[in-house]
Amino acid sequence: MTGSWRLFLLCCLLQGDGCSSAIFEAVLPDEVTTLSGSCVTVPCSFTVPDKYKANLHPGCKPTWKKDQITISTTTFRGKLTAYNCTATLNNVLEDNVKNYFRIDCGNPLKYDFSKYPVTIQIKGLPDAPRLTTPKEPVVEGTPVELGCSAPSYCDTHPPTVTWTPTLGLSTQLQQNDTVTSTLTFNASHLHHGNNVSCTAAYYIPSGNKTVTSTRYQLSISCETMYYLFNEKYILSFVFFFILI
Ligand SMILES: *[C@@H]1O[C@H](CO)[C@@H](O)[C@H](O)[C@H]1NC(C)=O
Ligand SMILES: *[C@@H]1O[C@H](CO)[C@@H](O)[C@H](O)[C@H]1NC(C)=O
Ligand SMILES: *[C@@H]1O[C@H](CO)[C@@H](O)[C@H](O)[C@H]1NC(C)=O
Ligand SMILES: *[C@@H]1O[C@H](CO)[C@@H](O)[C@H](O)[C@H]1NC(C)=O
Ligand SMILES: *[C@@H]1O[C@H](CO)[C@@H](O)[C@H](O)[C@H]1NC(C)=O
Repeated sequence: MTGSWRLFLLCCLLQGDGCSSAIFEAVLPDEVTTLSGSCVTVPCSFTVPDKYKANLHPGCKPTWKKDQITISTTTFRGKLTAYNCTATLNNVLEDNVKNYFRIDCGNPLKYDFSKYPVTIQIKGLPDAPRLTTPKEPVVEGTPVELGCSAPSYCDTHPPTVTWTPTLGLSTQLQQNDTVTSTLTFNASHLHHGNNVSCTAAYYIPSGNKTVTSTRYQLSISCETMYYLFNEKYILSFVFFFILI
């Protein structure tokens, strides 16, 4: 991705001959944020000096460490032979700790990338989901679309978004680190005055967390035909009373 591309350009500039003797280096974000008790995925790639390249094999052991201690709750996701050290750290609890990658191939290729740590930041509560409301006044009988976007902190467990009241059909989509739910329904006068909100539920092994958006009060204007019908209806009532 962009990180490894940058690294490639950098080492080409330094070497001038197509990265012939790379150094031990890891490319990863400086910090990532997640919910307490949840997981977080750290995208990561690395380089090793040329003389160690032949030592890299599928049996090399990747670990993620904190202060020399191996973090046991890590799921390794990358492909080491493709220089990918991406990992998901699970059940993350401690705020503001630095973690780093280590490779051990059972041969001279053993290295702690401790100069390239990622700092894990912890949030107690998820950010509230954001509601997007219609720009135009909603007219009875027309389709209405409301959107709700919630941050996803742990890519293996994205949040589930629900709507209150349900009102219609909703579809959920995940893009990058955001989950978006779209609620569609046909506006009826029965919906007028309803307070709509969306809730994002996060799976956390030590206790799920939910957080709700601000409320949006639906205002549904009547169709012109509806008015006409009503006026006629009222007029016939008046005539009815005049007649008797
Ligand atoms: C590294 O591996 C992860 C997990 O399989 C993948 O999502 C990511 O795209 C890979 N990175 C690169 C630079 O190929
Ligand atoms: C998702 O991330 C990619 C790459 O970082 C970016 O090009 C794209 O615009 C992002 N999409 C959204 C919907 O934010
Ligand atoms: C809205 O009404 C149209 C036409 O009657 C119907 O096809 C559609 O399924 C309705 N949409 C919803 C969300 O109920
Ligand atoms: C929606 O909220 C407003 C303001 O809090 C309240 O006056 C109104 O009764 C609520 N509507 C419904 C249908 O509960
Ligand atoms: C937490 O959420 C998951 C699904 O997201 C659900 O299966 C589980 O029952 C929930 N746990 C509790 C204790 O509510």
